Amino acid sequence: MTSIIATDAWRTLMGHRETTVSDTIADLFASDGCRFKTNSWELEGILLDLSKNRIDDAAWDGLLALAEHAGVAAARDAMYAGETINTTEGRKVLHVALRDGTGIADPSVANDVTATMARLATFTEAVRDGSLTGKTGKSFRHVINIGIGGSHLGPMLTAEALRDEACPEVRFAANLDGHDLAAVLADANPETTLFLVGSKSFTTQETLTNAASAARWLTKTVGSDAVRDHFAALTAKPEAAKAFGIAAQHIFPMWDWVGGRFSLWSAAGLPSALAMGWSAFAAMLDGAHCMDRHFRDAPLALNLPVRLALAGIWNINMEGLGALAVVPYDERLRSLPAFIQQLDMESNGKSVTQNGAPLGLAAAPMVFGLTGTNAQHTFHQWLHQASLGAAVEFIGVAKPTHGLSGHHDKLIANLLAQAEALAMGTNGDGNANRACPGNRPSTTILLEVLDPKRLGMLLALYEHKVFVQGVIWGINSFDQFGVELGKQL
Ligand code: F6P
Repeated sequence: MTSIIATDAWRTLMGHRETTVSDTIADLFASDGCRFKTNSWELEGILLDLSKNRIDDAAWDGLLALAEHAGVAAARDAMYAGETINTTEGRKVLHVALRDGTGIADPSVANDVTATMARLATFTEAVRDGSLTGKTGKSFRHVINIGIGGSHLGPMLTAEALRDEACPEVRFAANLDGHDLAAVLADANPETTLFLVGSKSFTTQETLTNAASAARWLTKTVGSDAVRDHFAALTAKPEAAKAFGIAAQHIFPMWDWVGGRFSLWSAAGLPSALAMGWSAFAAMLDGAHCMDRHFRDAPLALNLPVRLALAGIWNINMEGLGALAVVPYDERLRSLPAFIQQLDMESNGKSVTQNGAPLGLAAAPMVFGLTGTNAQHTFHQWLHQASLGAAVEFIGVAKPTHGLSGHHDKLIANLLAQAEALAMGTNGDGNANRACPGNRPSTTILLEVLDPKRLGMLLALYEHKVFVQGVIWGINSFDQFGVELGKQL
């Protein structure tokens, strides 16, 4: 496989960048009154506005040619068909099958998925309606998810975003640091606490240490056989969960074709389902599936994940911006930056191609982020004036649900103002200290409303973005040998 940087498509793009390097984002807007319209794409309540990136029409043509040349469409189709595209680990990559109500992905896994979803739905509703009880016959008031990485971030993000008021309260413990678990146990009653051990491998030190501590805390009060009624496992290693003492009917399978950071949609998402209810969780799966269908069917030029991925490649490789700030202007999405951090950096944070050849270019950006407006009072100074630069992805929600007046218009005005200030800058009335150079790229993703469907769509948008970038760079986005080394040491 030829490295992408040795292709004509890459050279053409680099050449175009050289000849247009002095054009600013402001110039692009000045020369095209329809720029917002022609550089925004919409899908079922999600607007992707890429107009404030320094990408002109010819650059878009070059980027799309690059995607064609890199075989994005064929790689995508191979993923959906269940080919072993995770070649370094010899695995299929089928997270799309988990949200596939209509069989667009590999049918060979459909039965397993359907059966497991039915078990998860039943379990979720039984815990939420109080009919499933602990050892002493009391309903569960607290659910504590013990897991890390993909078994933590996606479930926590979605639970925070969409949790309803129904009992029980879902909490999360991930860190090996005992303060994390101790904090969630502090006011919990062992008799009414359910633990979920989310670990695909069932070998992760942090998770097994926390699970063992949780079992000691539980059995001290409720009796040595309490694990059977108070623990469930979400894992691809059911035997290990059984050996831990977890009852077979409380073990929910995952499969080696789901990567940890793509596993929210599998049994690993059970804490999320418990927090929002099964029908909302199912609607989130449907939302992700909606994005999956779009990703599979839309031409590259109209494909939101492809456009978002290409804008990222332009910013990283052509503009030299090695960092990406993810700034959701919605407190319910406070864990989105960490989720994308793992998704992007664990998937594409590599310097060799799938075949082991040196990459010869920068790949995944350093992702960081915080909710707006907190970010404005934390790192936006750096975004506006520092010499090191970052691209920014703002995420906003058009309609709030909090019912408080006087907040939302200001919040959205802040988002829009930040994007404009980054793009246009100011000369500071001639005062160099006050000047902001502008010409700093940002993307805005606007959700009509933060409901299960739009959240599912948003997360699938990011998953596919990362995949498309990996394909263009020639990376296998689905292994993580760097983390494995740390685990072994
Ligand atoms: O961070 C490395 C990693 O393997 C992730 O990919 C995964 O989400 C996390 O560890 C947890 O792994 P497990 O679910 O096997 O405990």
